[in-house]
Amino acid sequence: MDLFEYQAKQLFKEYGVPVSLGEVATTADDAKAAAEKIGGVTVVKAQVKVGGRGKAGGVKVAKTPEEAKANAEQILGMDIKGHTVHRVLVDPGADIKEEYYVSYLLDRANRTFLAMASYEGGMEIEQLAVERPEALAKIPVDAIQGVDEAKAREIATAAKFPENLIAPVADVLVKLWETFVKADATLVEVNPLAAVGNGSGDVTLVALDGKVTLDDNADFRQARNAGFEDKAAADPLEAKAKEKNLNYVKLDGEVGIIGNGAGLVMSTLDVVAYAGEKHGGVKPANFLDIGGGASAEVMANGLDIILNDPSVRSVFVNVFGGITSCDAVANGIVTALNMLGDEANKPLVVRLDGNNVVEGRRILTEAAHPLVTLVETMDDAADKAAELANAGK
Ligand SMILES: Nc1ncnc2c1ncn2[C@@H]1O[C@H](COP(=O)(O)OP(=O)(O)OP(=O)(O)O)[C@@H](O)[C@H]1O
Ligand SMILES: [Mg+2]
Repeated sequence: MDLFEYQAKQLFKEYGVPVSLGEVATTADDAKAAAEKIGGVTVVKAQVKVGGRGKAGGVKVAKTPEEAKANAEQILGMDIKGHTVHRVLVDPGADIKEEYYVSYLLDRANRTFLAMASYEGGMEIEQLAVERPEALAKIPVDAIQGVDEAKAREIATAAKFPENLIAPVADVLVKLWETFVKADATLVEVNPLAAVGNGSGDVTLVALDGKVTLDDNADFRQARNAGFEDKAAADPLEAKAKEKNLNYVKLDGEVGIIGNGAGLVMSTLDVVAYAGEKHGGVKPANFLDIGGGASAEVMANGLDIILNDPSVRSVFVNVFGGITSCDAVANGIVTALNMLGDEANKPLVVRLDGNNVVEGRRILTEAAHPLVTLVETMDDAADKAAELANAGK
């Protein structure tokens, strides 16, 4: 899960990384109120999970609360690379002397963690990496050893920070590493880490922007992660499926797909897409993996979600009986359809094979549900499902 800038900075703050963190506003009036509260110059910043906000006009300085309001009016609702801005961060305006870059990420290719840092921040890091790769230090970090003060100094030195900045930058690097590990992140990035004046001639470091990607596999031990979720952006059916522990993914076609096991579901997507070419170009609308133990309840939950997807015109249930035998799956389908009653209103094509297939098919034939068509092979079933979806268009 990617975090918004304001969430990333909340996290940084908790671990002692110095941040500039004002207030989040969802209306222009709230932005004005926030600017009044903060006082002085503020910066109104679009909160979207995509880079290049500044260049897109999503970061604007305001000298007065009225200006902050006007900025927020412009920025709220703006589209930045396909992301609509629903909230802005009103940040205290910083007196920037210099801009630097620091980050940690999981380097999958090299099976390690990687620190990246540069004394030359400000410009886009991708551009810096291409044009002046020598200015961007890339230092592997051992997962066990992590980043202590010595390691942090090594990174800061490699990043060509001048002597007087090594200690303060190292301090930020140690705290940022702590954030990375304790929050179970796969990316933490500060761009820019800014040297700012504080009015009395001293210069301090502060994270003006933050990017964090959290590892969803750690949600079970990161109670706070649920609170970071952007409920407004989540697909409601995906959220419902997640609640019921189902693996559901929304696609943009017309044939709903339920299968057991990731491999079977993936190949089902392929055969449906292929069959769709003959039937008006219909495609998979979604897929749902009900996993190994497909009880009637799991099947009912799965069908409920798939049938509630308004783009679904037909459903293909493709199950290979293994630990859960075909008769159990067939009973599951029959029970699910009874449970759903009138809510089940789209044709279902069922292909069963594997353990106890004869009994499974017998159960479905006997139930003779008007919506269900039993087809023997996967290819024929995909063809039938595509045909029905096309007919229902
Ligand atoms: N609180 C602030 N005070 C003064 N200037 C700021 C402040 N926040 C950001 N800026 C300036 O705006 C620039 C862009 O801001 P920021 O890095 O947050 O957005 P961005 O880099 O355009 O977005 P992204 O990181 O999504 O690409 C910064 O490099 C900095 O110069
Ligand atoms: Mg930035």
